[in-house]
Amino acid sequence: MKQTALITGGTRGIGLGIAQRLADDGFDVAIFATKSLDVVREQIAAVNAAGSDTLYIRGNVACAAECASCVEQTVARYGKIDVLVNNAGIAPKVRADLLDTTEESMDEVFGVNIKGTFFMSQATAKQMMRQKSGVIINISSVSAFASSVNRAEYCISKAAVSMMTTLFADRLAAHGIRVYEIRPGIIKTDMTAPVAEKYNRLIDNGTFPIRRWGCPEDVAKAVAVFASGSFPYSTGEIINVDGGFHLKSI
Ligand code: NAI
Repeated sequence: MKQTALITGGTRGIGLGIAQRLADDGFDVAIFATKSLDVVREQIAAVNAAGSDTLYIRGNVACAAECASCVEQTVARYGKIDVLVNNAGIAPKVRADLLDTTEESMDEVFGVNIKGTFFMSQATAKQMMRQKSGVIINISSVSAFASSVNRAEYCISKAAVSMMTTLFADRLAAHGIRVYEIRPGIIKTDMTAPVAEKYNRLIDNGTFPIRRWGCPEDVAKAVAVFASGSFPYSTGEIINVDGGFHLKSI
């Protein structure tokens, strides 16, 4: 029987790379994102062209009711969800020193990155518990541990995503559901385009032992390994996809 993956924010960047890879691996793919279907039709078609059946669901992960509705619509179409990829995430609109972080920006970033990941996981977990199987993969960031004082709300939100990996892994293990995390470093997408020059300099200076930008396919390859069921006796594990950034050297 064909496997089904639900990917949040799968219309561009890392999420689209993941959708294409899982479709290539034979998954039917449901994509949940904010834009209207008219705007993302081409991207959805590109996933379709890889041979999977693709369902696009428009909605906002920051709304728990919309997360629940997304799970219902996916199950109505495919009967089950084998893999959830919590990829949707946003950076603050303005990079401001943490002494100037606004409540509005914090609410916005926490809404998508924290509430979105939590309530998608919660709604999907209940479905996976009925199935007695499933894999949840959280896309966090090196910002879960590396300090950027000009985007505190993003760093805090990604540290929270890491704790969600631990919490859901613990809660769901007895139900046949495994939870994993991928920590990307600097990946070339629309999100990093506004700060490309800064990251070019960091790459040239050797901040990343593997001296190049990461690409969505690098993250998608790691997702594919977790989604393949290759780690049946492991849960709560993290793969760093960061060019070795997490290594400490002197
Ligand atoms: P992106 O900005 O290119 O794409 C984000 C996707 O999420 C889009 O499809 C967008 O429609 C969707 N999205 C945004 N808000 C949403 C909401 N409220 N509800 C549903 N969908 C929503 O971002 P990118 O670079 O592809 O990042 C994907 C994930 O990877 C994010 O969680 C990000 O924090 C994380 N990440 C990215 C890194 C990078 O260097 N690009 C590095 C580390 C982590």
